[in-house]
Amino acid sequence: AKHLLGIAHLAPDEITAILDLAEHYAAMNRSGEKHGEALRGLTQVNMFFENSTRTQASFELAGKRLGADVMNMAMQASSIKKGETLLDTALTLNAMHPDLLVVRHPHSGAVDLLAQKVNCAVLNAGDGRHEHPTQALLDALTIRRHKGRLHRLTVAICGDVAHSRVARSNILLLNRMEARVRLVGPPTLVPSAFRDLGCEVTHDMAEGLKDADVVMMLRLQRERMDGGFIPSEREYFHRYGLDAEKLSLARPDAIVMHPGPMNRGVEIDSATADDPSRSVITEQVEMGVAVRMAAMDLLAQNLKAERAACV
Ligand code: CP
Repeated sequence: AKHLLGIAHLAPDEITAILDLAEHYAAMNRSGEKHGEALRGLTQVNMFFENSTRTQASFELAGKRLGADVMNMAMQASSIKKGETLLDTALTLNAMHPDLLVVRHPHSGAVDLLAQKVNCAVLNAGDGRHEHPTQALLDALTIRRHKGRLHRLTVAICGDVAHSRVARSNILLLNRMEARVRLVGPPTLVPSAFRDLGCEVTHDMAEGLKDADVVMMLRLQRERMDGGFIPSEREYFHRYGLDAEKLSLARPDAIVMHPGPMNRGVEIDSATADDPSRSVITEQVEMGVAVRMAAMDLLAQNLKAERAACV
């Protein structure tokens, strides 16, 4: 493939290839071994139109560890603020001949649109409530490292599924890899229509967590709630927040995940988030660098092959 726009475009063997290469980069990152030069001579531009800590930092580190020239566009200080459109911004950068464009945008579909207008490889770093493919890949890698597989695992994705691109990409990936996906949360945030994506839906945490191998908690994404239903935090935590008592309903070896950023005391309590015997939240961040290295390495290989064929 030329781009990484969503899990929807990836076949199971492509997902496995990214995870296998990421596993290799994860080992190198841990040992401090020198990295390859997979992106040497290539220019990576990061364009984040929405706030980010994990995704932006890990894409930057991933590019630098593989030898790319990395430029972070300060979108708040760009000519977007003078009314320039996303497409004109993309065409302007395209004229400078980048090789890899990493884009986060608040509107679903904006990254796909941009990919049609530029000559380089585009990686989706999260678009609206549509997809966040590298997050789902790093989640899958973390699960695989702990459980040895993805197929036939029961993964409970809990909380604000309706507004979550992380949930959507995870649902697509886990279904494709034959895991069993259970969505858990209030009806306003987990509508029954999600059953059409091949998931179980329940509005009861006890039912949702029963025998789960993986418990993935999601933040309430108030920025995408458009003034609609916003639950009271106290009531929400009481019914849907993860604590030791609710976690005891899952399998005794169930791992706890969260894509971050967390709202402690709302969707998860601190004792559970910081429990080293159950929580893999910091390992997810660590795997984020490895997965982004693998994704950019594989796209760069395709880019080089395409260019060689044109000579
Ligand atoms: N998980 C995630 O996308 O975090 P950031 O918004 O900090 O990048």
